[in-house]
This record gives sequence, structure tokens and C-alpha cells, in this order.
Amino acid sequence: MIKIRALKKSDKLFLHKWINDTDIIKHTNSYRPIDEVEQDEWFNSIYKNKQQHVFGIELIEFKKLIGTCGLYEIDNISRKGELRMKIGDKNEWSKGFGKIALKKLLNFGFNDLNLNKVWLKVLDDNKAAIKIYTDAGFVVEGKMKEDMFIQGKYMDVLLMGFIK
Ligand SMILES: CC(C)(COP(=O)(O)OP(=O)(O)OC[C@H]1O[C@@H](n2cnc3c(N)ncnc32)[C@H](O)[C@@H]1OP(=O)(O)O)[C@@H](O)C(=O)NCCC(=O)NCCS
Repeated sequence: MIKIRALKKSDKLFLHKWINDTDIIKHTNSYRPIDEVEQDEWFNSIYKNKQQHVFGIELIEFKKLIGTCGLYEIDNISRKGELRMKIGDKNEWSKGFGKIALKKLLNFGFNDLNLNKVWLKVLDDNKAAIKIYTDAGFVVEGKMKEDMFIQGKYMDVLLMGFIK
């Protein structure tokens, strides 16, 4: 079983490895190398920004960090936020952990933050992600054509939303 929890300084090595892993990053962003200085600045800013809530995804039995997830750009008037997640440990893909982490994060967003809507962006070839989002109740609200340039190709991006 897994839990979502606050990130710790001891997670930094894993986070730095994952952000530089093109196998993972190609599912979310264009790649550019991130050095330790930039990584440290990002890490130190995480909990200063009150418009975001970032978590680690941990395998409880082994106390092992396997990924991250979070709600960003929290809008306190419209009561919405952007969801992002990744299982960074590739050995742990397709074991159902993404689905569970997603449920826990949505529960936090709706029941602790009192959000009305959670939205996200996903590359339209990311079948595993689209499957877990759709199963959780997200619906496609639009498609942004050729919105991201990743590994030499322009990719279409789906906008998905989940209203409480
Ligand atoms: C996307 C991601 C979060 C999913 O987490 P996961 O733990 O690997 O996924 P799960 O095992 O919980 O579920 C994956 C589901 O997709 C399905 N799936 C996997 N590959 C698929 C494919 N090519 N076509 C259709 N369905 C697929 C699986 O069968 C499973 O569905 P099921 O539970 O009904 O059998 C994870 O793979 C990941 O972090 N990938 C890299 C970063 C990323 O893509 N982040 C999301 C950005 S929007």
C-alpha cells in the first residue's frame, strides 16, 4: 500500500534523478538538464508557495519514495487547482500505485482544501495516465493542438477536468 506525504530533504536525490530521466520526462515536459543548484532552489521554494501542495508517494512497507504528486496554481476564488503526478521509479509503473495516489490526492483536494474543480494537462499519447484519470472521473474538456515540443515532435495535449 502507498501513502502521500510531505517531501523530505532525504528525497532530493531521487527527485533530481527523476527530473533528468528522459524516459519519465518525455511523458510530461520538454527535456533540459537540471543541475543541483536549480534543483535545490526548486526544492526550497516548494513549501513557501501557498498556492501549491506537493507530496511524495511512498510505499509504506519499505518506506520507499516512488513518485510525486501535487495540486498547483490553487485558485481560492474559483476553488480549483491543477493536478500533476508522476511515478518516478519506473520499476513501480503499472502496479496500480498511480491510481491509488490519484484517489488520495483528489480526496485531499476536495475534502481538505475544499476545491470545487481539479484540472490537468496530459499528452494525448499517454494512455496509462488518461486511463487512470478517466477511471477516477475526469472528462476531456478540450484538446490543444501541437502544444508541446518533445523529443523532436509537436504533441497534442488534452485538458481534463473533474468537478466535485
Ligand atoms: C501515468 C502514471 C502516473 C500511471 O501510474 P501507474 O501506477 O503506472 O498506473 P496504474 O498501474 O495505476 O494504472 C495504469 C492503467 O492504465 C492502463 N494502461 C497502461 N498502459 C496502457 C495503454 N498503453 N493503453 C491503455 N491502457 C493502458 C493499465 O492497464 C491500468 O489500467 P487498469 O488498472 O484498468 O488495468 C505513471 O505511469 C507515470 O508516472 N508515468 C510517467 C509520468 C507521467 O506520465 N505522469 C502523468 C503526466 S499527466
